[in-house]
Amino acid sequence: MRAVKGQVELVVRMCRKVLAKESVHGQLMEICREIRRHFGFSRVVIFLVDEVLRQIRGAAGSGLRLTYIRSQAFPIENRGGIEIPNAISRCAATGRPETCRLRIADAGYRKFVRGKSPLNRTYAKEYALLPLKVRGRTFAVIAVSVMEGEGTLTDETVATLASFADFVSLVILQAKELQERRRLEREIESVSEQIQRRLGQDFHDGLGQDLTGIRMRAELMEERLNGVSAEAAADAQRIVKLARQAVERARKLSRGLYPVTLERHGLLSALQELADSATLMYGIRCSVSAPRRIDIRKSTTAIQLYRIAQESVHNAVKHGRAGRVTVGLLRRKGRGVLEITDDGTGFDTHTKSTGMGLNVMRHRAELIDGELRIRAMRPSGTRVLCRFPLPSK
Ligand SMILES: Nc1ncnc2c1ncn2[C@@H]1O[C@H](COP(=O)(O)OP(=O)(O)OP(=O)(O)O)[C@@H](O)[C@H]1O
Ligand SMILES: [Mg+2]
Repeated sequence: MRAVKGQVELVVRMCRKVLAKESVHGQLMEICREIRRHFGFSRVVIFLVDEVLRQIRGAAGSGLRLTYIRSQAFPIENRGGIEIPNAISRCAATGRPETCRLRIADAGYRKFVRGKSPLNRTYAKEYALLPLKVRGRTFAVIAVSVMEGEGTLTDETVATLASFADFVSLVILQAKELQERRRLEREIESVSEQIQRRLGQDFHDGLGQDLTGIRMRAELMEERLNGVSAEAAADAQRIVKLARQAVERARKLSRGLYPVTLERHGLLSALQELADSATLMYGIRCSVSAPRRIDIRKSTTAIQLYRIAQESVHNAVKHGRAGRVTVGLLRRKGRGVLEITDDGTGFDTHTKSTGMGLNVMRHRAELIDGELRIRAMRPSGTRVLCRFPLPSK
């Protein structure tokens, strides 16, 4: 029972770790670590094999010189007693587990390892080789080494490792699909931002300028009609008023669609503009607090954070009837934090929302590899918190 529990825990932990890694190499390193830790082998390496099975493309967890392995060109004959590449090749070609014993102490084998690798001191005497397959094709081989003094590989252990490898294959497939989905989501998001930006610019530069032109002509007309016909001048004045309103509307619309300031002056300035406009529009006190400068260079991160702040401020006013809203942009424990705090009515953050705003905010946070939390404040109010990775210096 305990053994089963251990396996389940291993599987769950490994799934979580593998799915969190972006690169295939990072995923394979996690798998190596977990197998080592769980089964107690001191050395586990995963070889990425080339599609046509003629070469190794990479080796995770090895410390092996890739150039050296590549120079061994698959499938290789038994050169200088190095049996392992042959066995990897066989395992990759058949898609079945293999075991092999190592004939050691040849010069080629010594070159096979780098630096202070344990293999330099203690030789591996046996290997279990397990294929990792996606849709029936082997793309990598797990090599589990049994070192001198580590006992021997039993058939039962090999069988357990083989079924474990099948499971690992599924996790990797899942990770690949997840990555592909995230990539597509990012693409869709970026296309929709581009469209909004185009629309925003068109509103600003096209429609906005046309309306300004109309307003100016109407002002001139009003001036000319003054003293000619009081009635016509009053009409012209009405047109001027309407044109002014239309200009203001187009400006607001264009800003809402795409915050031009964000591109020109960065996230902090855009957040400041958002706060100023909320203060003006809703008659609340909205301010920005950023004690230390945070450099967000990626425009995709900046736009997602801006949109999260925009929706939070909007929710605070619309639902919370807040009188005060603070937008904070800070660095905490090496991560960036955007937090929007309001003193409104607050709400039960556990109830399922029918609106789109909160879900879209969560999705935006995920797109920038961040996470979103919503907390109820005391005595009342809400805090939306988005933690996100900062670029390494
Ligand atoms: N700051 C807040 N203060 C009080 N209630 C909030 C706050 N933010 C969200 N809510 C509550 O959570 C619900 C869901 O918010 P969400 O933004 O997802 O949807 P919505 O604002 O109702 O609609 P949409 O954003 O799609 O226009 C809101 O209807 C509201 O009841
Ligand atoms: Mg909303």
